[in-house]
Amino acid sequence: MNDTEIVRVRGRRIWDSRGRPTVEADVVLACGALGRAAAPAGASRGTREAVDLRDGGARFGGLGVANAVANVNGPIAAALAGMDARDQAAIDARLVALDGTPTKARLGGNATVATSLAVLHAAAAAAGQPLWAHLAGDAAPTLPLPEIQIFGGGAHAGRRVDVQDFMVVATGARSFAEALEMTAEVHRAAGELMRDAGKLAGVADEGGWWPAFDSNEAALAMLVRAIERAGYAPGAEVAISLDIAASELGRGGRYRLGLEGRELPGDGLAELLAGWIERYPIVSVEDPLGEDDPEGMARFTRAVGDRVQVVGDDFLVTSAARVAEAAAIGACNCALIKPNQAGTVTETRAALDAARAAGWATIVSARSGETEDTSIVDLAVGWRAGQLKVGSFARSERMAKWNAALRIEEALGERARFAGAAALARRG
Ligand code: PGA
Ligand code: ZN
Repeated sequence: MNDTEIVRVRGRRIWDSRGRPTVEADVVLACGALGRAAAPAGASRGTREAVDLRDGGARFGGLGVANAVANVNGPIAAALAGMDARDQAAIDARLVALDGTPTKARLGGNATVATSLAVLHAAAAAAGQPLWAHLAGDAAPTLPLPEIQIFGGGAHAGRRVDVQDFMVVATGARSFAEALEMTAEVHRAAGELMRDAGKLAGVADEGGWWPAFDSNEAALAMLVRAIERAGYAPGAEVAISLDIAASELGRGGRYRLGLEGRELPGDGLAELLAGWIERYPIVSVEDPLGEDDPEGMARFTRAVGDRVQVVGDDFLVTSAARVAEAAAIGACNCALIKPNQAGTVTETRAALDAARAAGWATIVSARSGETEDTSIVDLAVGWRAGQLKVGSFARSERMAKWNAALRIEEALGERARFAGAAALARRG
């Protein structure tokens, strides 16, 4: 028997950071190596993402994962038994064939992504390497530039404000550790400003301060004040990154800004965002328009893509084919990479490769529903993605990931490379 042959696959239900059920998978190899991974879950999901298989019915609000777990323990375990964990492409091809749908609707993307990542972990464990080193191979592992949320909004905060993520990027940081130090100061300053304004009211789903603002722009203004209060130069040292998650605001070219009580056409939303880019130190904008508006995304990228990074999330859904289509029309200059949007490690890597082939930047990203699983940090470092988005600087499902990256930077010592601000795309 080959040492790296899969001898056991076990799925189980665990609970995510929103207290909802999710799938965890264990993969054991003949040599005894164990790999373990858990599926995250989004709240503002692209319609073309891999499907999270949920049980429906009344229990747990319909979000049970008994069927997805049964798929791991039944058909998936049977199909992978005896396969070599080192051949990730073959493992993932088997999962794709077994599922047989374009969106993992039969087995569940939650079942396949947990299993696929668990196999990857098992192969690294069998090789006696940390996952990031196993993935990097002979190439130099690179610590990503972190995008860290300060205010959470949109679907992660009961739609208290329309914009989903108000984040900061420590453009002046020279190491990952320094980027976290700078962000910690801005995060704290933002909390103090909210307290002083009588607006402190807990945190949103990804740990960002609750966005008690009268307008979306008021949050931007507060963010600039927080950067200044922390002692940094807005833009040069700490800049702003936004996720509009525009598909949540409307479809078919009409976008509703609930907080401001107005509805805008696509061009109006693009103009509003271009105005913010003029007035605030913004370096990145994600999903500025809806996932059903590729032309709008292309126009927006042509208009501002030389100055800011234009990121596709719901628009690209970590699909190599979608990235290639978007690149062909000049929509976006950066791809958000979420393993559970694709459903397997191999398809996730293919989307990243497609983005690279287009000359784009890449950001490996968590979801709003997370667990203590830190696999995405290994992917970001080992694949040299350049950027990492994990949510805010609070709540341990977030901090576990930032802290994991710190340990990698320490382990690399002198060899540690930090992607820094150069990782941001700023071209059309
Ligand atoms: P989600 O949002 O995980 O709730 O889908 C994250 C994002 O839009 O980046
Ligand atoms: Zn997004």
